Amino acid sequence: MTKSRGFGPALVATAILVLAGACGESPVGDGDPELVSQQAPGEAQPSEAGALQPPEPEAAQTPPPVAPEGAAAIEGVRSRSRQLLGALPPEAPKAGTPIREEQIRLGRMLYYDARLSKNHDVSCNTCHLLDRFGVDHLPTSVGHRDQRGDRNAPTVYNAALHVAQFWDGRAADVEEQAKGPVLNPVEMALPSEEAAVNVLRSIPGYAPLFRAAFPNEEEPITYDSMARAIGAFERRLMTPAPFDAFLEGQSDALSAEALIGLETFLSAGCLTCHMGPLVGGSMFQKLGLVEDYPTEDPGRFAVTNNEADRKVFKVPSLRNATETAPYFHDGSIETLEETIRLMGRYQLARTLSDDEIAAIVTFLRSLVGTIDPDYIRRPELPPSGPDTPAPDPT
Ligand code: HEC
Ligand code: HEC
Repeated sequence: MTKSRGFGPALVATAILVLAGACGESPVGDGDPELVSQQAPGEAQPSEAGALQPPEPEAAQTPPPVAPEGAAAIEGVRSRSRQLLGALPPEAPKAGTPIREEQIRLGRMLYYDARLSKNHDVSCNTCHLLDRFGVDHLPTSVGHRDQRGDRNAPTVYNAALHVAQFWDGRAADVEEQAKGPVLNPVEMALPSEEAAVNVLRSIPGYAPLFRAAFPNEEEPITYDSMARAIGAFERRLMTPAPFDAFLEGQSDALSAEALIGLETFLSAGCLTCHMGPLVGGSMFQKLGLVEDYPTEDPGRFAVTNNEADRKVFKVPSLRNATETAPYFHDGSIETLEETIRLMGRYQLARTLSDDEIAAIVTFLRSLVGTIDPDYIRRPELPPSGPDTPAPDPT
């Protein structure tokens, strides 16, 4: 979590080097534009104040990318994409501790168990529906007593690989994250960790499952082990996509249109922030880097208290993004096309044409992945015991 600030000139320079170095061998035919000759974000020069200046108007005149033709050209795109983005790993390992199958099995149950909410009507799956790409498609989610928070629910798919959790990165990993919603008054609204542990201990069927999942713990049912089990489940919520098949050598996994979209995505400069195997999720950046973006949300400032972190958010992963509308931390933007247009304007000082936006959307469709339906199937939950607290609608 080191890159919590907006771009300094040094970071921009690094980005240009990455792009320039990566396209030494142009994947497209003779005379076609190379990445560096197009408007990368670094081309805007820092002003005396250190802010990025809008690009010269003629920079927008660069010819549109064309589909790479022939095996060698496609190989070039592949090796460049491998270097700059990369294929999705099958799971997000937790440093030091291998994921136990028993923890995953338990975590799946807890993920679906609404008894971890005050009125037994909200579970993780209420806001992160696993059969809907891990989101609820609402601008902001509805929790206990139909209350709404002020941020959009991001997807849980592939989230375990993010540099940190939440839009502002306030939780380090999925285990720490899972402790939040259960006690959040507008989400699941249990009054205390103790209350959650009481619920779990009151359900007789959970005792052997916690014991199997945490065999070395003297007291297996704790708030911490609840979060660890949910985290273990989330660490395999990965959605490999056609783009990964392409990176692994299957050339026809991407259509010619998707390849043009990939070129457009790379040359427009999206990659500077949306990089790595998740096409995002690896750093924090200011929303409104080149032009102030209207939002009241302080972003990462609330976590670091550092003025430079105002309106700084985690760069979201673009995997499955075509399926997770609405967009942005406040869910204020309904369509992906409009979101991309705003990205051009506020992050890159670049007016993207409708064709460029459509091409990028086509590329993003190749990032829509799948998961084994058995892995996410709603499990049968153990019945409540005599001491299980009754639902509390207050
Ligand atoms: C009432 C809706 C709601 C419920 C219930 C809920 N979440 Fe969330 N979740 C959200 C919202 C909204 C955010 C973003 C909040 C923020 O960034 O400040 C979020 C963020 C997350 C993230 C971070 C993803 C990222 O990209 O940073 C993960 C992981 C997650 N939730 C998992 C869970 C788990 C596990 C549970 C159950 C224990 C759960 N959520 C319950 C609404 C909900
Ligand atoms: C300077 C960094 C930066 C650049 C360059 C950038 N983005 Fe973003 N992007 C962000 C940040 C930060 C957010 C989160 C904004 C928010 O909601 O607070 C974001 C959000 C998005 C979202 C919304 C995702 C969601 O789930 O809500 C999409 C889609 C997106 N970007 C696509 C693009 C595309 C396409 C490009 C290139 C045209 C691009 N971005 C360039 C930093 C960047």
